[in-house]
Amino acid sequence: MKQRAIRFYDEHLAPVTMREEVLQGLASRPRRIAPKFFYDERGSRLFDAICELPEYYPTRAEMGILESCAEDVAQLAGPDSTLIELGSGASKKIRLLLEAVRPRQYLGIDISREFLRESAQQLAHDYPWLEVHATCADFMRDIELPDGAIEGRKLAFFPGSTIGNFEPHDAQAFLARVRRLIHLDGALLIGVDLKKDPQVLHAAYNDSAGITAAFNLNLLERLRSELDAVVNPRGFKHRAFYNAQRGRIEMHLVSRRAQEIRLNGCRFHFEAGESIHTENSYKYSIEEFHALARGAGLRPRQVWLDSGRLFSVHFLSVTSRSRPRIA
Ligand code: AVI
Repeated sequence: MKQRAIRFYDEHLAPVTMREEVLQGLASRPRRIAPKFFYDERGSRLFDAICELPEYYPTRAEMGILESCAEDVAQLAGPDSTLIELGSGASKKIRLLLEAVRPRQYLGIDISREFLRESAQQLAHDYPWLEVHATCADFMRDIELPDGAIEGRKLAFFPGSTIGNFEPHDAQAFLARVRRLIHLDGALLIGVDLKKDPQVLHAAYNDSAGITAAFNLNLLERLRSELDAVVNPRGFKHRAFYNAQRGRIEMHLVSRRAQEIRLNGCRFHFEAGESIHTENSYKYSIEEFHALARGAGLRPRQVWLDSGRLFSVHFLSVTSRSRPRIA
């Protein structure tokens, strides 16, 4: 079968104003830099390496679940659906679903234009029966579908427990936006990392090879190389710990000594031990996640776990009668 051309749409995003956001974050208390800035080319490569680490179980656990639940997902989704992958990246996980679900159309949405184009082209090459669409957009803001191009029942796919990197209130608002995207007859398949033994969590974010540390410290390399900041990344160290009260892993960059970061003529003073908060990764029990989903107008239909009960994949459909509690 001949490969079909992909259909590519571009929402022409304004470039992210990293400089302003970083300046604001360094001036605030506690100091913070948003995790979206982890993912330059080196950061994305380091994240791929994290996913292969023996201690970082989420990727392996989720892939195993997707392999074994693909037929059930196909049953629940029904025939002729359109698969919409949010943050499609390298589109590796979707491959575990495509043969079983056999959607008529696939739409990948991602912020990283060239990466998205390449992976969409690769999908079209590997699955010649599939109609492949790709939209370069920030699904964290509003999610629009290309006008008139997407037909049929929509199955959104949001793997990787990226939902855990949102504050719970933002996570619920995001789910409510997905609900509007998939309409009344659609569904969402979402990967969510579970609460578990804090030692397992600790190891996953403090790997012995130091890859997570390099991923975290890469933020400071970016400040230096892209924003001309005066900062010595070696003056900071990676810290990740489980905050049981908040149910989240927190990542920080901790100053090893009294020092300054200089950026745009501003001087940010750090005492030894002072930190920049760089990421939260919330962990949910199944009940907690169900409550979050219900609050967004989504009905839990099925949940699958790996044998170690480390990770969960949920199939949610739209609750027709209730309106989301959150806009
Ligand atoms: C992308 N996200 C779901 C990862 C997580 O586990 O929160 C990011 C990550 N941070 C450190 N290791 C992996």
